[in-house]
Amino acid sequence: MIVPVILAGGSGSRLWPLSRKHYPKQLLKLFGETTMLQQTLLRLDGVPDLGDPIVVCNEEHRFMVAEQLQEIGQSRASILLEPLARNTAPALALAAVKALTQEDDPTLLVLAADHMIQGIEAFQKAIAQAADAADSDKLVTFGIQPTRPETGYGYIKTRREGQGSHPVERFVEKPDLATAEQYLAEGDYYWNSGMFVFRASAFLSELERCSPEVLSAAQRAYDRASTDLDFVRIDRDDFAEAPDISIDYAVMEKSQAVVCVPLDAGWSDVGCWQSFWELSEKDANGNSFVGDAIDVDSHDTLVFTQDKLVATIGVNNLMIINTPDAVLVADKSQAQQVKKVIARIEQGN
Ligand code: GDD
Ligand code: MG
Repeated sequence: MIVPVILAGGSGSRLWPLSRKHYPKQLLKLFGETTMLQQTLLRLDGVPDLGDPIVVCNEEHRFMVAEQLQEIGQSRASILLEPLARNTAPALALAAVKALTQEDDPTLLVLAADHMIQGIEAFQKAIAQAADAADSDKLVTFGIQPTRPETGYGYIKTRREGQGSHPVERFVEKPDLATAEQYLAEGDYYWNSGMFVFRASAFLSELERCSPEVLSAAQRAYDRASTDLDFVRIDRDDFAEAPDISIDYAVMEKSQAVVCVPLDAGWSDVGCWQSFWELSEKDANGNSFVGDAIDVDSHDTLVFTQDKLVATIGVNNLMIINTPDAVLVADKSQAQQVKKVIARIEQGN
């Protein structure tokens, strides 16, 4: 059985001011009539032998998550509530421990709740290949052909052997720009998509080998969890002891059991406004307008407005994001720097 595990506890801060701590991007309708979280599950429709999903999120978002799952007929999902965010390695440890209490060593399909994937058929084919590889206790990542020296992604060096999964020689999480440029020039690298497939037991034993302190804290926190309505509330004190670390650093960079299944399915991580603009429909001048906007002679500009008419004249490469209580105006190439604004807000400006 394949059990989807949805990581839905990120803060999505680079999509500020639309994405907020209380209302992060995975719970928003960014593209179309369903939210990113809902789309993550809906695109699995038709995958054979699929179990009920496990969603791991912050306890603050529990009612929104439960409601969004119900809206798409996923009322049997398990919802694990983190009392505080410790990043993806502890979150996944909780999910794997939970999955093993329900099923005899299920295959976990780990998905981020904030990705766009256009080619559903190709995606589902890659899931089947990954599940095959996971049967021999491999940790499978999906590799994306890189198109730019992006520093926000992990890089996977593979030995490209035949069809299906490739052995991974090296996994490097978020290299600096010079290193990413070198990887792109060398050519044997994929981007890590941030989606994984493995047997629950294979993951937990690699976690124990590579980062035992993550496993022990998550196991204790799960053992002392309480059940409240349909939610599993993870123990705060024990979970707080888990290191704040992503699965990429905690396991993927260290494990010898990683293999890569290439994925060519129009994948993208809607990580920042630049990638939102890339994914959205544009006019002949490369502008994208969402909401009430008028433009005269601008180019490659994104206007996203919720509650006011926004007019632009002759600007290039700007992003203008208007929400009822905050406006962001920035050069589109600086989209990653939005995090600095959040840091300033958190410090009281
Ligand atoms: N439950 C839970 N708890 N979920 C979390 C937490 C947490 O503490 N932190 C992040 N998440 C969720 C996010 O909501 C997102 O769906 C997913 O986990 C990945 O987290 P990101 O914070 O978006 O990771 P990233 O984009 O910096 O990097 C990862 O994804 C890249 C591709 O998008 C890495 O796996 C990279 O190697 C990869 O290239
Ligand atoms: Mg991401």
